[in-house]
Amino acid sequence: MRYAEELIEEVRERNDIVDVISSYVSLKKKGSSYFGLCPFHNEKSPSFSVSREKQMYYCFGCGQGGNVYTFLMEYNRLSFVEAMQELADRVGVELPQQEQSPQEKQEADTKVILKEMNKAAAVYFHWQLLHSKRGEKALEYLNKRGITMEMIKHFGLGYADLYRDDLYQYLRKKGYTDQQMKDSSLVTIDSVKGSYDKFFNRVMFPIMDVNQRVVGFGGRVMGDGEPKYLNSKETILFDKGRNLYGLNYARRSREKNIILCEGYMDVISLHMAGFTNAVAPLGTAFTSGQAMLLKRYTEEVILSFDSDGAGIKAALRALPILREAGLRGKVVSMKPYKDPDELIKQEGREAFIKRLEEAESGRMFELVVLHGQYNQNDPESRTEFIRQMAQKLAGIEEAMERSTYINAAANRFMVNEKDLTKLVNRYGIGYQYEKVNETYKKDPETREKAKQRKEDMKVQPQRLLLTWLIERPYIYDSIKKYVGPNDFLLPLHHSVAMMVFDQLESGQEIVPARILDKFTDAEEQKEVAALFNARLKYEPDAEKDDKALTDVVRKVKMASIEDEMARTGDIVRWQELITLKNKIQKLQIHTNL
Ligand code: CTP
Ligand code: MN
Repeated sequence: MRYAEELIEEVRERNDIVDVISSYVSLKKKGSSYFGLCPFHNEKSPSFSVSREKQMYYCFGCGQGGNVYTFLMEYNRLSFVEAMQELADRVGVELPQQEQSPQEKQEADTKVILKEMNKAAAVYFHWQLLHSKRGEKALEYLNKRGITMEMIKHFGLGYADLYRDDLYQYLRKKGYTDQQMKDSSLVTIDSVKGSYDKFFNRVMFPIMDVNQRVVGFGGRVMGDGEPKYLNSKETILFDKGRNLYGLNYARRSREKNIILCEGYMDVISLHMAGFTNAVAPLGTAFTSGQAMLLKRYTEEVILSFDSDGAGIKAALRALPILREAGLRGKVVSMKPYKDPDELIKQEGREAFIKRLEEAESGRMFELVVLHGQYNQNDPESRTEFIRQMAQKLAGIEEAMERSTYINAAANRFMVNEKDLTKLVNRYGIGYQYEKVNETYKKDPETREKAKQRKEDMKVQPQRLLLTWLIERPYIYDSIKKYVGPNDFLLPLHHSVAMMVFDQLESGQEIVPARILDKFTDAEEQKEVAALFNARLKYEPDAEKDDKALTDVVRKVKMASIEDEMARTGDIVRWQELITLKNKIQKLQIHTNL
């Protein structure tokens, strides 16, 4: 269900993108655009640009881009409809009631109610902690653990009372139904045992999503008791694999990396010591969904897990997940302390900074752990270690990185570098062959992707030509007799080309933001935004420029002809296409500018 196009346009036009983004990102005017630090990735110098003319934003660093709708959707994690409503509100446009399917409506309603209910519960727990009689014990517990009042408020910590149904009663009074409470996982509704709170007599940690909305809770027993921590079950609001404790603050820390630790207490003590870039998973192992989430804010993740066997295991599991998501992983050691919480308490902030600086690269950490698993005094065992190590090193794809690690490993584990290199190369050939074969066999998708890459080479000129038309509309007159929208083979490019050609033909100015509105899918919007913001290499002389343009047009046309030849069964058309192909070979374009 969508709003009418005119209305979408109206709301967009009345919300100037520079004004809207300025309230989230501080922008400075530079030339015809505004620049600021990109909110979608971590950077030191501004490569995030906002153009009033185009009514678009684009980051030259990470490639995120779009119009005012996309910005709100990405920044605040809203759906299109939610972004539209917010922007309409902002400029006082009244929107017609949305027609949703009954199921959509129910889900949206439940979400709104759950958000409110979680917030109400958090406020209730927090109040209990600070003002109730029995809360004093919990407050004392937190104080004893060194958590300041400031942090208690910052993280909204609370106390769940020891009555088994006081939250239930409280929420009932607020008007929530049994079913709604059941959906929230805050209360267990049992027809036999009655209704009782999930959390009682625990210190409460509200879990917030990146937008600072409470989506669930963790609760700790005070002192010993089982289970030590109890966590909310997943609900339609709370996806454990896609949330991280502390990320609502860490995303704004502007540090060059994010510290991933094990739990609530670690995050709080790190933030308290000034490391506001610390986050933790939510009582489950680190997931690839969480890695993707982190990738939006950083390039480097420092694992700061407990120093016990479980912590090492967790690090070994997390490192490949980080790698897979394109994140650099490092590991910091807590020894002789149990966890960051303890280390900072004992040795303070400076000591932790030093540990961070000394953090070991993920790959080296893996090798050190491997080293520890073999008896280095036994030749047979040591040989096996070296073999295993070589196999791991062979898995490093980039040659430069591989040789750096071979060198470092040879020094560290006292292995002859030449021998190690030889061994790695031997594994390398077999390994790569095996890996390719394996993935091919296992995964038809990889096969698709390889094909896709070949396709991309064909598509590149088409993308370039579109950008060219958008950036320098004056070339239109010289190329229109050769290419048309139908020569753009990908559906997305085809749609953009239709609009661009149409607007150029009628002598209109191209309005990027309007074209962007036609695409609802986030990936599509990103691709279209890239078309509008790609930087063309300017050739100083027109002759070279013409040559380049000729080349691009020729490639586009050739691909299009070949595509049609592959599809047509008509022999006459086939011959026409061959003639056309010959003509295109000789094509020369002159823009006369
Ligand atoms: N955890 C859990 N359920 C448990 C134990 C642990 O969900 N029964 C999760 C919690 O998110 C916890 C994290 O695993 O924060 C780390 O566990 P642990 O190291 O045992 O707790 P600490 O964070 O060290 O907490 P504390 O200092 O309060 O003991
Ligand atoms: Mn711990």
